[in-house]
Amino acid sequence: MYEVPFVPTPEVVLRRMLQLAGVKPGEVVYDLGCGDGRILISAARDFKAYAVGVEIRQDLYKQCVEKVRDLGLEDRVTVIHGSFFDVDLSEADVVTMYLLTSVNERLKPKLEKELSGGTRVVSHDFEVPGWRPVILEDLYEEWRSHKIYLYVIRKREVPVPTGKAVYVEDPFTSKVLGLIDGKRSLVDIADELGVPNSAVKRAVKRLLKLGAVSDLVVE
Ligand SMILES: C[S@@+](CC[C@H](N)C(=O)[O-])C[C@H]1O[C@@H](n2cnc3c(N)ncnc32)[C@H](O)[C@@H]1O
Repeated sequence: MYEVPFVPTPEVVLRRMLQLAGVKPGEVVYDLGCGDGRILISAARDFKAYAVGVEIRQDLYKQCVEKVRDLGLEDRVTVIHGSFFDVDLSEADVVTMYLLTSVNERLKPKLEKELSGGTRVVSHDFEVPGWRPVILEDLYEEWRSHKIYLYVIRKREVPVPTGKAVYVEDPFTSKVLGLIDGKRSLVDIADELGVPNSAVKRAVKRLLKLGAVSDLVVE
């Protein structure tokens, strides 16, 4: 189902969205309804992030894929053809949206369930009803005012160690395992290692599979 028509975010506005979200190199940015891919391209090229876009319209999806290939950004940008309601968002550090308030309202339970603590959600022009923005900025561009809402997911997820001895080949996953003590949250571990939250979340998923972690307790 097409939830929203294609209206691109002006370059100046999208840059400000990514700036306000504090996108850092190596972080994972999801654009829900990525249109012609402009947010993905800026996130990857200008902010050195990994970008994932979801687009339901086939013509726009194809346009995005071609643009990404022409710019040689295939290793940093992934485009998914489908509905954002069907895509797992759990590895996002930042989510960008230019949808509608009614769609944001329907997305809200999915965002609250899947996104980790510390994930930033930045929405162009339309609020997420019931959430309090940490920043609400007004930007005048292309003859009108654009609102930018920045939200931060407030949640503490603590991985619980099983104590089981496992063989961990990957050095980064092994480092993460060394910091899992049932007290530190995913964000605490990411801060200690100086890496994006998404990297720790992926490592914890591997450790859950290996049986070194039994659960992710949400406080
Ligand atoms: C207002 S445009 C924003 C495009 C881009 N994010 C930007 O800011 O420039 C919204 C986009 O969402 C897409 N869209 C609408 N419903 C969707 C759905 N359920 N899943 C994925 N994409 C969808 C539309 O095709 C359109 O390209």
